[in-house]
Amino acid sequence: MNKSTHSAVIGAAPEGAGDPQAAALAVREMFTSIAPRYDLLNHLLSFNVDRMWWRKTARRFAAVLSRPEANVLDLCCGTGDMTLALLREAGKSSNRILGADFSHAMLQRAGEKSAGTPLRWVEADALRLPFAGEHFDLVTSAFGFRNLADYDAGLREIVRVLRPGGECGILDFGEPRGVVGKIYRIYFKRVLPVVGTMISGVRGPYAYLPSSVERFPGPEEMLERMRAAGFCEVSWTPYTLGIAGLYWGRK
Ligand SMILES: C[S@@+](CC[C@H](N)C(=O)[O-])C[C@H]1O[C@@H](n2cnc3c(N)ncnc32)[C@H](O)[C@@H]1O
Repeated sequence: MNKSTHSAVIGAAPEGAGDPQAAALAVREMFTSIAPRYDLLNHLLSFNVDRMWWRKTARRFAAVLSRPEANVLDLCCGTGDMTLALLREAGKSSNRILGADFSHAMLQRAGEKSAGTPLRWVEADALRLPFAGEHFDLVTSAFGFRNLADYDAGLREIVRVLRPGGECGILDFGEPRGVVGKIYRIYFKRVLPVVGTMISGVRGPYAYLPSSVERFPGPEEMLERMRAAGFCEVSWTPYTLGIAGLYWGRK
């Protein structure tokens, strides 16, 4: 069954959040609460594979990133690792890469990590971006899109700010099948929440992570939603046996 059939709006729904507004608030509070330990936990819990996924995603957009006039937005940028990977791919002289997030604490860390680079940071909600239409050549989002309270609204907002022909890359977790899937699910549902909670000192976020991945549409449905939002070409590329994957779209 299609994961979305029971509700009109589909998006993140942290425990106790009854509507999209409450969900967005809970998500922002959650990330703000783990901001100080976010990077450490990310690298530890993914065995550093996260770095490879960001690099691989940035490489996929090498052509657009090589154009000095290209405007680039990294949405839900958090502490800026995807944004920094884009900058590395583009070359240090690129001054048109912007990271946006609605958690001030996450952005503060992004600012500290990127001191001395031309990266710029904007505090903004991905569902109401403070940019004119058709401004960006590339919009990326790594492990952030899944947390939006309304996926379709998020996709429409990305399409709105992209130039015709512009590209989008959404990197997120998947649900691998077979034996790998079974082992992975034990790790993701049992081990990760315990270790995450212990190190961050906060209970909610690392229990929310596996449930948010479970709620997230599978590749077929997500590609359908991307087309419906206005992308002309779409694809999904699995990374590391489908543990993560990249949704690509062209407006
Ligand atoms: C799991 S973190 C990912 C951070 C970073 N992209 C990475 O790869 O590590 C998700 C981020 O999405 C942000 N986020 C979630 N919903 C958002 C929204 N509606 N608008 C802006 N940022 C949002 C959170 O504040 C958080 O920093």
